[in-house]
Amino acid sequence: MASLADELQQLFQQFSGQLEAAANEQAVRKVYADFGGANGAIRLKQKELIKSAPNDQKRVIGQATNEILQNVEAAFNAALGRLASQAEARELARSVDVTLPGRAHRLGHLHPITLARREIEAIFAQLGFTVAVGPQVETDFHNFEALAMPKDHPARDMQDTFYVAGAEGAAGEGADVVLRTHTSPVQIRTMLARKPPVRVIMPGTVYRRDDDATHSPMFNQVEGLCVDEGITFADLKGVLLHFARRFFGEEIGVRLRPSFFPFTEPSAEIDFSHGTCKGRGCRTCKNSGWIEIGGAGMVDPEVFRHVGYDSEKYTGFAFGWGIDRMAMLKYGVDNINAFFEGDVRFARQFR
Ligand code: PHE
Repeated sequence: MASLADELQQLFQQFSGQLEAAANEQAVRKVYADFGGANGAIRLKQKELIKSAPNDQKRVIGQATNEILQNVEAAFNAALGRLASQAEARELARSVDVTLPGRAHRLGHLHPITLARREIEAIFAQLGFTVAVGPQVETDFHNFEALAMPKDHPARDMQDTFYVAGAEGAAGEGADVVLRTHTSPVQIRTMLARKPPVRVIMPGTVYRRDDDATHSPMFNQVEGLCVDEGITFADLKGVLLHFARRFFGEEIGVRLRPSFFPFTEPSAEIDFSHGTCKGRGCRTCKNSGWIEIGGAGMVDPEVFRHVGYDSEKYTGFAFGWGIDRMAMLKYGVDNINAFFEGDVRFARQFR
């Protein structure tokens, strides 16, 4: 009997060792099958012992070995239980909580100047204007000469700018290169490339030697040009009024004051009645109730001559103003530099 007990005890110890080493349910079940299953080592040993025992001993041996098999069973169930609670603990310790609401991606958005430019373009598109663009580094010819501002013209003083190459005494006509001071050179480029009728709106960045709260050395303008047979000053005013009301509101009025530009005749300063104070007068509009927006006029025959248009047959109007200034008025921004400083806290307000 001593050796019987020893043999079974040895098998049981083997079983216990392997069970402890089993890292997952599949391994635990295999260890159980190897020892406690129908063809497991302990069960085979039991059968063998009972078979070879004398009849009067069979019952005792059967009981003793069954006890060991019960222990095998219990150890197996305990191992399964241990694995289950380990899995549960791992689940609870997970650092990802799938029940939390998702984190939204921050979406980008357009800069207020872009928003204003697109809105201006859209309003003119509905009137049949198409968008045209030109280079920011421009020739003296397109920026001044063809716009009836020859080299010594006093109007150039107001548009002092950055000369890129060969300012004085440069060889050959049009050799001078400047950062464009206005979008008007795109008028020239458009008319040189197309025959009338022309209806274009020309947005873009321009440069001047200006720098204060309402002037930046780099700013954005939009230019309009309409050339056809029979275009009058009344068409200009109608288009400006339509635009003012669409962009700022139905109550806005337009005033045209006599002025001078070398490339338009007659010329006018465009004023819009001030929307914020409803024309009553305030600090922004200097108590006048009107805000100066830009310049306009009928295209000067001298400009038509430069681009080869017949000024006996065609007339046209042109206008130009600052997009930044429009955006300042529309969004209530009092310093133009806020648009260009790149502070996202500012830009984010215009989503
Ligand atoms: N280009 C002019 C400026 O920048 C504005 C303007 C455009 C005036 C078109 C008349 C016609 O001052």
